[in-house]
Amino acid sequence: MWPYPRILAHRGGGTLAPENTFAGLRCGMRHGFRAVEFDVMLARDGVPVLMHDPALGRTVRGSGSVFEHDAADLAHMDAGSWFGPGHAGEPVPLFGAFAAFCKAHGVWMNIEIKPAPGYELETGAAVARLTAELFADEIAAVDSARLPLLSSFSDVALAAAQANAPGLPRACLISTLDGDWERRARALGAVAIHTNHLHLTPTLAQAVKARGFGLFCYTVNDPARAAELLSWGVDAFCTDRIDLIAPDFV
Ligand code: G3P
Ligand code: MG
Repeated sequence: MWPYPRILAHRGGGTLAPENTFAGLRCGMRHGFRAVEFDVMLARDGVPVLMHDPALGRTVRGSGSVFEHDAADLAHMDAGSWFGPGHAGEPVPLFGAFAAFCKAHGVWMNIEIKPAPGYELETGAAVARLTAELFADEIAAVDSARLPLLSSFSDVALAAAQANAPGLPRACLISTLDGDWERRARALGAVAIHTNHLHLTPTLAQAVKARGFGLFCYTVNDPARAAELLSWGVDAFCTDRIDLIAPDFV
């Protein structure tokens, strides 16, 4: 059974605000969302920040890589201008502050561990440790519905998360479910499979559910498709179109 919210705002506010920023989160919250997916990567000093791309340039003004800058420097870079002049100067959030804000405002988190290449273990460990500190009481109480869900495409990152914060639930991000997905998920003690809805079939959805895993899809932007996926037994999904798909969509 899926104890978490069913509809999540992707990267904070989907495509309605700059991704992986407080502005995005506020936008999602204005649309009624109290559940969010976002991406986390390590800065040079090992401090996790919200970031999707290892390379600066697309969403953050600057050049080089995220891991060539300390978090304090990234926090002063402009992660909003690319979206529009009204968001100029929007900072790169520190993961610790962002997660604490979400917790304080009752926003449930799917934290995607998004390691820059070569930093898989460090990223999984750091994100899991910080999250476990923030949710120490909920972990102690085994209050699973209130715990965030850590997900990653990287098995190394998930294994590091498991080693550093075994009390936090994990999910395997797998774009296309092949013959190996169940072995990987079991090896990592994952509670759910997060998959690209474009590659999902009713048979695969049924197989995931029949084997006792939660099933989450990214990134679903069409209401008719969302309804179809839910009819297949998909438990939850994230969306960029928080203007078309409401948090209480069923
Ligand atoms: O976590 C689901 C989804 O965000 C994975 O893909 O590239 O949008 O982070 P991406
Ligand atoms: Mg993501």
